[in-house]
Amino acid sequence: MIKIIIAAIATLLAIWASVYMIGLDSEVHKLDKISKLIKSTAMEDKKIKVEQTTIKSTPVQSAQTTSTNTKDKEIEDKLKALKEKAGNIAAFKVSTLYKKNCSSCHGNIGQGIIGPKLMGQSEEVILKDLQDFKSGKRKNYVMYGLLSKLKEEQLQSLAKEIGTFQAKLDEATK
Ligand code: HEC
Repeated sequence: MIKIIIAAIATLLAIWASVYMIGLDSEVHKLDKISKLIKSTAMEDKKIKVEQTTIKSTPVQSAQTTSTNTKDKEIEDKLKALKEKAGNIAAFKVSTLYKKNCSSCHGNIGQGIIGPKLMGQSEEVILKDLQDFKSGKRKNYVMYGLLSKLKEEQLQSLAKEIGTFQAKLDEATK
């Protein structure tokens, strides 16, 4: 009888140990992700600097372009064109709501920095994402924390605005 109890306790310990290891593993994974995120923002900084210093000369193909998606490429080209036509930047006005709450991570025109690119996504998709983040259906602490301060009407107006970013960029670089 005692043997059985000892065996049972040993099994439980073994299970607990493996669960604990899995937990540790995912923590490490998270840390890894964070460090990657930090690294990627550092690269973004460098890229901006490179672009600023070469802005007067002919546009140089950025060596750090990692996007393979042609749509991404297209947006990047247009963003470059927008930078060159300084006057057109004025055409790209965003609301204070967006500028204050979202642009730090998603870029001043939704091109994406730490947060994913929003430009090119439809109002419906953005609104659904925002609602899901706010309700916790889609889990992200950053977005959840941010959106908990905003009202449904604000989500709607943000979604509506972000939905027009692509058209605005197209218009400004025509
Ligand atoms: C502190 C940085 C940060 C700020 C500020 C921020 N976001 Fe995000 N956002 C993120 C990150 C990181 C993700 C990716 C989350 C994920 O996929 O789980 C994200 C995801 C999203 C997505 C989903 C995009 C997709 O393609 O899946 C939308 C939409 C979005 N954010 C909109 C907004 C809006 C609108 C605001 C302003 C109210 C905002 N975000 C502010 C970091 C931020």
